[in-house]
Amino acid sequence: MYCACPSRRAENPTLNRMKTMKGQVALVTGAGSGIGLAAAQAFAAAGAAVVLADVNEPVEQVAKLLAVGHRALAIQCDVSDEKAVEVMVAQTVATFGRLDAAYNNAGINSPVMETADASSEEYDKVMSVNLRGVWNCMKYELRQMREQNSGAIVNCSSMGGLIGIADRAVYHASKHGVLGLTKSAALEYATRNIRINAICPGIISTPMVEEMVAREPEAMQALLKDVPMNRLGTPEEIAAVVLWLCSPAASFIIGQAIAVDGGYTVR
Ligand code: NAI
Repeated sequence: MYCACPSRRAENPTLNRMKTMKGQVALVTGAGSGIGLAAAQAFAAAGAAVVLADVNEPVEQVAKLLAVGHRALAIQCDVSDEKAVEVMVAQTVATFGRLDAAYNNAGINSPVMETADASSEEYDKVMSVNLRGVWNCMKYELRQMREQNSGAIVNCSSMGGLIGIADRAVYHASKHGVLGLTKSAALEYATRNIRINAICPGIISTPMVEEMVAREPEAMQALLKDVPMNRLGTPEEIAAVVLWLCSPAASFIIGQAIAVDGGYTVR
């Protein structure tokens, strides 16, 4: 039973278990900016040693974490490159000894465009980062977690993984694919103490969205009109759910696609 009294809340074992990731090791891809950076900061604040991986090595972001006493490592890694991903996971384990939580967040947008007009180059580029990138990361993270007999993975899908939107076919296809990877892998490891879930952010205020607003102001206005909470989400609101999904508080949750979208996909 939920109790609003603070002293009773402190006794709630589920809430207590959410408080810390002390001694744990977390890996975040696309951690140089936006949602990935917020997630890396949240893992660090919860006490985890954090690896920030990004195609642009996030040295400044890591320096800021180190300056306030966190354990952190910057790795340059393009998630679409399988060899680089293998090295990223190996470096993580060589530095911090294990891998407890991974947030496969790196992703790119695709231009708003009719399906008949999209190029095969654009299709391959988006798929190689958004879908193959997640597959690459899961593969090597799971090899480590399988050895440890423990771990939690969150893959970044999107509200675009749950619904279709006109002129967004390529991006949405990549994000639907992430859910297929997530559900199938979650079943494989269900009895092996490794939990895999996906998060489906709505429209979140990050450089990716700011760039889209600048490029396609009308399309963005139309999207925003459909957010029941009538505002953009923040990277921190996504990070909080990623952290929770990786914590023991979510110990009975696998294979889910958790929408954090201000109600966009409710209707
Ligand atoms: P962002 O553009 O602010 O940050 C993405 C980060 O990923 C950047 O630091 C970039 O350098 C890095 N990155 C790009 N390609 C990479 C690659 N090949 N390998 C490694 N790192 C790479 O984007 P944002 O908004 O923070 O998006 C993060 C994730 O959330 C993406 O997967 C995106 O599709 C997803 N998402 C974002 C939404 C939004 O409204 N911002 C909505 C739904 C999903």
